[in-house]
Amino acid sequence: MPATPETLVEGRNHLADHCATCHANNGAGETEIGRNLYPKAPDMRQTETQSLSDGELYYIIRNGIRMTGMPAWGNPELGDSDSDSWTLVLFIRHLPHLTAADEMEMEEFNPKSNAEREEEQQEENFLNGNTNKEGASHEH
Ligand code: HEC
Repeated sequence: MPATPETLVEGRNHLADHCATCHANNGAGETEIGRNLYPKAPDMRQTETQSLSDGELYYIIRNGIRMTGMPAWGNPELGDSDSDSWTLVLFIRHLPHLTAADEMEMEEFNPKSNAEREEEQQEENFLNGNTNKEGASHEH
């Protein structure tokens, strides 16, 4: 699969959604879960990961790593044509060149709790001047 702006964005959003809890958006592995697993999530921008072949990365993503926190992803029936996993391989290659803009857009795709979503909604209501909406007004 060729690295195009489209396939990279696909891989980027997928990583933000499924992998960043452990690996972080920038691939450094510096998240609460990532750094506390044993073995911990590696910094995927470094040579150890970048020197793996595309096929090896693909295999790891699809099969996970036995006896570690790295889960197996993707539908086993897809064989070599799991396009979600190939876009992830492309994006892992791109990690050393990540921009601040990339990282900001990824935050939109990071999993959120209901509480975080509600807080965002309240802030939005407040900014839009809808201060009478439930939960957004503060009368003491
Ligand atoms: C629950 C935590 C967790 C999640 C979620 C997770 N990983 Fe991992 N991943 C790990 C850990 C821990 C390792 C290191 C295992 C080891 O040391 O052998 C790892 C290793 C890897 C490696 C091998 C890197 C290397 O240098 O050997 C790749 C590639 C990888 N993960 C990609 C992904 C992708 C892509 C996703 C999302 C689809 C993902 N991971 C989701 C925990 C996670």
